[in-house]
Amino acid sequence: MGKKSKEIAGAGVDGTIAMLKKAYGVELSAFHYFWYIAHNIQGLGVLESKFFEERANEEIGHAKKVAFRLTQLEEIPTDDPAQWEQDSGMAKLQPSRFLSLRSALERALEFERSVIGLYNDLANSSKDKDHGTYELALELLNSELEDEQNLEDILEKLEIR
Ligand SMILES: [Fe+2]
Repeated sequence: MGKKSKEIAGAGVDGTIAMLKKAYGVELSAFHYFWYIAHNIQGLGVLESKFFEERANEEIGHAKKVAFRLTQLEEIPTDDPAQWEQDSGMAKLQPSRFLSLRSALERALEFERSVIGLYNDLANSSKDKDHGTYELALELLNSELEDEQNLEDILEKLEIR
């Protein structure tokens, strides 16, 4: 818990917490998505299972950082997995619907784009006010931008339709 953290976050802290809760939901949903895909992908995608596993590990790392910031702002991250999906705004996860390589990558891009928008909003709203949240938003934004680029590159060169 961080009383000073919360005080610094100031009047906009409720909006910040709402965005962090959404981020926590998306990151944990993305973790579960990538983990499931890594272990169940079919066809050519089997060759890329390591790539999906690495993404899963990255997303759980992001979730940890978001959870830590929530705790600093005196907010306990939800313990309810059903809430992650609801907070994520990504509709029902159902990773088993995306087990071909192309569909798995395309769905992954949807996740990345959703969090890119979210972290950009979070950076805008915390800039010059709440440096702790701002730094985190920038760090995670850059990580997700890199992932988006990688996914786009792979999709562009994918030789199957
Ligand atoms: Fe992430």
